[in-house]
Amino acid sequence: ENDPRIEGIASSMRVISDFPKPGFKFKDITTLLLNPKAFKNTVDLFVERYSGKGISVVAGVEARGFIFGPTIALAIGAKFVPLRKPRKLPGAVISEKYVLEYGTDCLEMHIEAVQPGERSLVVDDLVATGGTLCAAIKLLERAGAEVVECACVIEVPHLKGREKLNGKPLYVLVETD
Ligand code: PRP
Repeated sequence: ENDPRIEGIASSMRVISDFPKPGFKFKDITTLLLNPKAFKNTVDLFVERYSGKGISVVAGVEARGFIFGPTIALAIGAKFVPLRKPRKLPGAVISEKYVLEYGTDCLEMHIEAVQPGERSLVVDDLVATGGTLCAAIKLLERAGAEVVECACVIEVPHLKGREKLNGKPLYVLVETD
């Protein structure tokens, strides 16, 4: 992406070594949030891309998809649907397990949040192995929604998460290893 705003976004994030475990390189978007201009540019880039595309659902992944997703949803006139970790949502849910490096985790969605045929966008801060986005896509498709694209601020390309998305397009602002 050649947009001049991307560089400021990339330089506002930081990498913390050995967090949460030795050997990991944690991509920290909280420093981006401390920079109002870079934070606004991040949201604006997504809003410009997804405005006028007939998207009625923005689904955000707990927890950091909740930072970016609702603002995008409001700006494009879509509803926001939280995809949550297990046992957080009070209504009737559907669940999708996904594989982590050690063990499994699960995302849940209120079944009545999305109607069949709705055009949806999945938002998260980061795609690593792609397991989380894959589960998010499955939840929306099980509810009958069409997943138009997944949108993340950061991609870690060497983990090849993009290949796990069943052919769904993935749009990212910044790539990092
Ligand atoms: C991180 C990140 C994504 C996910 C990406 O969330 O915010 O949701 O991992 O990893 P993947 O592509 O390998 O699935 P995390 O699981 O740390 O949860 P949190 O945002 O609730 O802390």
